[in-house]
Amino acid sequence: MKDPRLFKCQECGAILEYTPELKVTACDALKGKLKELKVNTEENVALEKHIPKVEVNGNKVTVTVGDVIHPMIDSHYIQFVYLLTDKRLHKYYFNPGEHPSHTFALEKDEKPLAAYEYCNLHGFWKKEI
Ligand SMILES: [Fe+2]
Repeated sequence: MKDPRLFKCQECGAILEYTPELKVTACDALKGKLKELKVNTEENVALEKHIPKVEVNGNKVTVTVGDVIHPMIDSHYIQFVYLLTDKRLHKYYFNPGEHPSHTFALEKDEKPLAAYEYCNLHGFWKKEI
């Protein structure tokens, strides 16, 4: 499996999720407006609230954002987490007000590789497992 990629429209702020399984060609309306969000590159960000914390317990992998729990208010929250494994890309969406943690159940021989999170204000973050 390859890393997921995110692109942000510089005009409207919409996020385009791009997974290696999909072939996306930007239409004329989007050309020049999409900027790729590189992981772990935002500056002046509290890392302890954005780097995902990963706990592996048998075939269960819990991804929590982060070591210090990230705010989950309407204007600032974790929108989703990914768990990349050697077999697939798992994903979980959050709503404001929820606890930013999710447990993924993996197949018996599935190996976790990395966890990601997207904060609507502070971007895209990754933790290798
Ligand atoms: Fe944030």
